[in-house]
Amino acid sequence: MTHPTSSDHIDNVLHETRVIQPPADFAAQAQVTREEYDRRYRQSLDDPDTFWAEVAGELTWMTPWEQVLDWQEPHARWFVGGQTNIAYNALDRQVERGLGGKRAFVWEGEDGEVRTFTYAELLREVKQAANAMLALGVQTGDRVTLYLPLVPEAAIAMLACARIGAVHSVVFGGFSVSALSDRMNDAASKLLITADAGLRRGGLVNLKANADEAAGKTPTLEHMLVVNRAGSNPPMQPGRDVWWHEALAAASDEHEAMPLDSEHPLFVLYTSGSTGKPKGVLHTTGGYMVGTYLTTDTVFDLKDDDVFWCTADVGWVTGHSYSVYGPLLNGATVMLYEGAPNHPDWGRFWAIVQKHRVTILYTAPTAIRALMRQGDAIPAQYDLSSLRLLGSVGEPINPEAWMWYARVIGGDRCPVIDTWWQTETGSIMLTTLPGAHPAKPGSAGLPMYGIEPAIMTRAGEELGPNDGGLLVIKRPWPSMLRTVYGDDERYRKTYWGEIPHVYFAGDGARRDADGYITVMGRVDDVLNVSGHRLGTMEIESALVAHPSVAEAAVVGRPDDIKGECVVAFVLPQGEQTVDPAALRAYVTREIGALARPDAIYIADALPKTRSGKIMRRFLRQIAAGRAIEGDTSTLEDPGVLDRLAETPAV
Ligand code: WTA
Repeated sequence: MTHPTSSDHIDNVLHETRVIQPPADFAAQAQVTREEYDRRYRQSLDDPDTFWAEVAGELTWMTPWEQVLDWQEPHARWFVGGQTNIAYNALDRQVERGLGGKRAFVWEGEDGEVRTFTYAELLREVKQAANAMLALGVQTGDRVTLYLPLVPEAAIAMLACARIGAVHSVVFGGFSVSALSDRMNDAASKLLITADAGLRRGGLVNLKANADEAAGKTPTLEHMLVVNRAGSNPPMQPGRDVWWHEALAAASDEHEAMPLDSEHPLFVLYTSGSTGKPKGVLHTTGGYMVGTYLTTDTVFDLKDDDVFWCTADVGWVTGHSYSVYGPLLNGATVMLYEGAPNHPDWGRFWAIVQKHRVTILYTAPTAIRALMRQGDAIPAQYDLSSLRLLGSVGEPINPEAWMWYARVIGGDRCPVIDTWWQTETGSIMLTTLPGAHPAKPGSAGLPMYGIEPAIMTRAGEELGPNDGGLLVIKRPWPSMLRTVYGDDERYRKTYWGEIPHVYFAGDGARRDADGYITVMGRVDDVLNVSGHRLGTMEIESALVAHPSVAEAAVVGRPDDIKGECVVAFVLPQGEQTVDPAALRAYVTREIGALARPDAIYIADALPKTRSGKIMRRFLRQIAAGRAIEGDTSTLEDPGVLDRLAETPAV
C-alpha cells in the first residue's frame, strides 16, 4: 500500500470563506449552547471517566460496570464488567418510560404503502422474532446475515439479534451473490434473513434467487428466514427455508432481553479497505450503545416530537446508527423509506417530508447534488415547513450543494450540519452542533465530546492550522471498532500501525485557526462512489478474473453527482478483445452495480515503477483529462503515459 503525498489526491481543498450563523430561532431553542459545548468537551477530555459514566448512566444496565475504560493499545474495553442489552434500551426501556404508544417507526414502501409501529408494537415483534430465531437454533454469539430491502423487518431482525446476543451482519441488498457469499463465509453465518424480493424503481429485485445461490456456497448456513415483501412466490427449500411471518406467528411474544457483557459483539459490518477483501468491522454492545445514544441526541438536537429521517439503507453504517439504534435509544420517531429518490419522480423525498411532517433530514451529498440538478421548482411544489434541521454524511459536501440544501430545502430556516465519521468509528466524530456553532460550508467542523482529533504527517508530527495532512484520533472512544472480524492483525496494522499510538482514519484533512476540520477525501486506495466505499483492489480483482483481462488498475474520477466514479484501465489477455459491456456486466455480477466502471481504457501497458508498482497518481490525472503532473522519471517506460492519454475511454 502506498500513500500519495503529492497534492493531486488531496485536490478538492475548498477555498470557501463563508460562515453561516445558526438561525436565531433554532439557536434559541437548542439543547446545547456554545458555552455548554465548550464545557462538556473540556470535561470529556480532562475527566473522561466521569463524562462517559454520566452518559452511560442514563441508560439501563443489568450489572453496573467496574471500570469505564481499559485501554491496552490498540484494544479498548469500555464499561468493563457491565452487562446490558441494546435492544432492551431501545425498546423495553422506552415502554417502561411510558412511550409504548409513541410511534417508533413510520415506514413507507416504494409503492406508497405505509406501516406504523409504536414502541410497544415494535417490542412485541422483536420479541417474537427473537423467539423465532431461538427456535431455529440460533445461539448467543452466532452470526446471522441479513440481506433485505429497507423494510421494517430489517430493523426488527437487527434488534432481535441484539436481544439474544446473536451478531448481525447486514449485507446491502444491492450486493451480488459473490459479495453475499463471501461475507457469509467470512462470518460463518448460521442463519440468513432475506426477502422474496425488494421494490426498486417500480421493478422487483429478486433477493431470494441471489440468496439461494449464495447459500449453496456457504456450508455453515443452516436456515433461511424469508420475509414476504412482494408476494413473488419464490421456491422454498423444505427443511432449510422458513417464512418470516409463519415463524413469527408461531413464536411467543414473551421474551426477556439477555443481559450481555458490555464487550459482547453486537454486529459485523463489511467495508472496503485499500487491500484485499472487504473487512468485517466489529462493534460491541456497551460502547456502541453509548456513542449512538449520545450523538443522536446531541448532534441532532433531538426533541420529543421530532420525526427523524435518515435516508441511508440499513446495509450501511449510517442506517445502523441513525435509522435504528441511535434514534430508538432516544425514544424518537423514525421515518423509513424503502425505495429510490426518483420514483415515481424526483419529488418523492419532498412528498415524504410533507406527508409525514419530517423534522430532521439526514442524507448524503450525492443525493443532494442529484436532487439539486432537478431544479428548485420540484421542491417548491411541496410543503417543507416541518423541517427544522438538515444533515449531510458520507463524503465531502461541496459548498454549492450545501448552500442549495440550506436555501431551497431548509428555507434558510434550518441549520445544516456536515457530519464526518466512518463504519469504524460507529458514531459521529466531527460536526458543528446546530444551535451552538456557525457552519462553514464544506467543513465538517469540531470534534464531538470525547473525540481528540489531530492532523499529522505520516511521520506522526502534528501539523498546525491550515496544513493539509492525515486525520488521526488520539485516544479511544466508546463506539470505536474493536477489531476486524477474524483478523486482529489487520486491525492493528490498518488503524493503529500506520502512525504510532493514534487511530489512522485514512482521510486527508486540515484544521483551520478556529479548530474546524475539513475532510478532503481518502488518502488510500479507497473510492467513495455516491457515498459508498469501494476498494480499488476489489474492483481490480473482479476485472482480472474476467478471461479477457490480463491486468487492471482502477482509480476514481471526480463526478458532479456521485462525488467520484470508477475508471478502469485494462490490459487485454493475449490476443483477446475486451468487450466493455461484458466487462461492466461482469463487475456488476461480481460485486454489485455500484462498482461498475463509468469509463474503461483498454491499454497496452500501465505506468509502473521499475519495481513494478502501478502509479495510480498518473492514471487519476489521465482519467480526469488533466495534464500529467509530477515526476515521471521513476517510471519504467514514461512513453506509456503519452499512449494512454491518446487512448479514448469506452
Ligand atoms: C467519507 C460513512 C467528508 C470519509 C459514515 C470516510 C466524509 C468515509 C464525511 C467513511 C464527511 C464520511 N465529509 N468525508 N462529512 N463522512 N466521509 O465507512 O472518506 O461508509 O473515511 O461511513 O466516508 O465511509 P463509511
